[in-house]
Amino acid sequence: MRIDELKKLLERYNYEYYVLNNPSVPDSEYDRLVKELKSLEPYQSPDLNPVSSVLSNVGAKPQSKFKHIAHKIPMLSLDNAFAPSDIENFVRKIQDRLELQQDLSFIAEPKLDGLAVSLVYEQGVLSYAATRGDGSTGEDITLNCKTIQDIPLSLNTAQPPAWVEVRGEVYLLKSKFEALNRQAAVDGTKSFANPRNAAAGSLRQLDPKITLKRGLSFYAYNIPETKLTTHKDCLAQLQAWGFMVSDEIQEVKGLEGCKAYYEYLGAKRNALPYEIDGIVYKINEISLQKQLGFISRSPRWAIAYKFAAQEEMTELLAVEFQVGRTGILTPVARLKPVFVGGVTVSNATLHNMDEIARKDIRVGDTVIVRRAGDVIPEVVSVILEKRPLHTKAISAPTNCPACNSVALQVEGESAIRCVAEISCPAQIKEAIAHFASRRAMDIDGLGNKLVDQLVAAGLISNVSQLYTLSFEQLSALERMGDKSATNLLAAIEQSKHTTFERFLFALGIREVGATTARSLSLEFQDLSELMDASEERLIAIKDIGPVVAHNIYVFFQQPHNIEVVGQLVKAGISWKKPVSDISQLPLAGQTFVLTGALTKFSRDEARDQLQNLGATVTNSVSKKTNYVVAGSDAGSKLDKALELKVPVLSEDEFLDLIQRTNK
Ligand code: IVH
Repeated sequence: MRIDELKKLLERYNYEYYVLNNPSVPDSEYDRLVKELKSLEPYQSPDLNPVSSVLSNVGAKPQSKFKHIAHKIPMLSLDNAFAPSDIENFVRKIQDRLELQQDLSFIAEPKLDGLAVSLVYEQGVLSYAATRGDGSTGEDITLNCKTIQDIPLSLNTAQPPAWVEVRGEVYLLKSKFEALNRQAAVDGTKSFANPRNAAAGSLRQLDPKITLKRGLSFYAYNIPETKLTTHKDCLAQLQAWGFMVSDEIQEVKGLEGCKAYYEYLGAKRNALPYEIDGIVYKINEISLQKQLGFISRSPRWAIAYKFAAQEEMTELLAVEFQVGRTGILTPVARLKPVFVGGVTVSNATLHNMDEIARKDIRVGDTVIVRRAGDVIPEVVSVILEKRPLHTKAISAPTNCPACNSVALQVEGESAIRCVAEISCPAQIKEAIAHFASRRAMDIDGLGNKLVDQLVAAGLISNVSQLYTLSFEQLSALERMGDKSATNLLAAIEQSKHTTFERFLFALGIREVGATTARSLSLEFQDLSELMDASEERLIAIKDIGPVVAHNIYVFFQQPHNIEVVGQLVKAGISWKKPVSDISQLPLAGQTFVLTGALTKFSRDEARDQLQNLGATVTNSVSKKTNYVVAGSDAGSKLDKALELKVPVLSEDEFLDLIQRTNK
């Protein structure tokens, strides 16, 4: 029977999630199965004993490797909402039950994707800590919790309650999760699928030293059975006692307030330094919470509104290799289209052959695809239990799919590269698109599609030919109107006035990013001096190592490159000579880091402004950083700045500094 099948599956998935910290299916699949089981007939019956149902099981039985702790107050779960109508029902039912007309006050909180923990303080001192376990008995993780900085060992008060329980979520910052997985790749150990699994795996350790090393965080969100009158007061009390409480928590009024907060936090989701999978709405008045009470495993006074899943499962139909600007062949998964992270995804990156081998991915497999925000969708893992009998191994290409030239593994790297360089049409297109991109020559309107068209029509085969295009040639292209052709020509013309560093970056020399381009532009008086530079001279430049120096040297030795660069200069590309002595500039010697979203200019503009004033702009915060400019949604870099006590400027303060310095 489907019911039995669903129950068995859900029991197993529960076990994988709560005990093994290693779920085989995405949360979205679990939620779907729960929904299906709930919709089946016997579960519709009000007489059904919820205790016997897998749906009423919260979590999983505690493991025997830990001492058990019985919860004095059961740790329940939350009912889930997936659509606006679920939230409408939630609010309406409460209003009806309480016979209230006016808008209710809710506290809206991020639903942190970590694991729930109960902390008990006796006479103000942390006495024990437990996982949720099955809701009535949890695992003793006291020693592990004592290693977490955000969990106070004693409450910050002269008159502590004799006994109090604090609940909250242990989680791992995204930045720490990424660092952990980078280390796992170096060590050749298994990586974690997401920050939640990593947090759970790090906390449920017999050796607290491991927990300590992982750098977990904690947000408090509840004092169960409190005598305070509102949930807001609880949060304030928790903060006063020394707990971290999320800054995103807000009081909202009625259904409209709930909806507006959902929009607000949904837009911010990917910029937050930790993962959240939805929003929790709680009724603010504790007396009303008491009046409403509980139904089976969850309170009637709270609900979790889940965001669209960022991980979904689908079938891997084929693998193709895409040629990048420098000839690297990247394996791309062609997928059965699936709705994930708010869009339909049919392609995802597989990174490289090593990743494919490590994850044991084959064509025909059911895979988990992840799309978080604007990040390129990726294949995270395979669901092995769904592997069909006949799958096809993915083999490394021996030839470039675009030009059929030999493809070779790069020594000491996992990348495979087409050796053809400038004769490979795919590399030509990528090189032109890079040249035109925003941080390079910034030719507005010249995107990948148009580059494809221009190359396919035989109008250009290198970047210098962009400057020979005519109105007739452009307007004859398909889907190109007169207006667009005129605009494009104007943008091409405008790109001729640039800076030396943009020009150097635009050339697309291997491993010469914007920062190296800037170093070169400061070191050399003019282009010909750079073109004549020896490898020794290049290595001597700060931040340029032997590999990059070699790439630059080799680039300017190629007759084709010399010719193209000559044509670009002839076409009229020019830049003002940089100030020869940058130590005279007002911000010389000062190092800045930009983080978060700025509203008054783009990050690129902010960087240009700072650099024009002589400052250095770097990507990572260290003790040597003079200022961190933090826009909204600033994440780990801001944390680091606060930790290292580096001065932090708001956008307005930054603007002020620039204006004052420019005077
Ligand atoms: S309150 C009875 N608040 O979500 C109410 N839970 O699905 C108990 N969670 O077990 C929970 N963020 O692990 C609450 N701000 C938040 C939360 C939160 C994440 C987790 C928690 C809980 C699960 C319920």
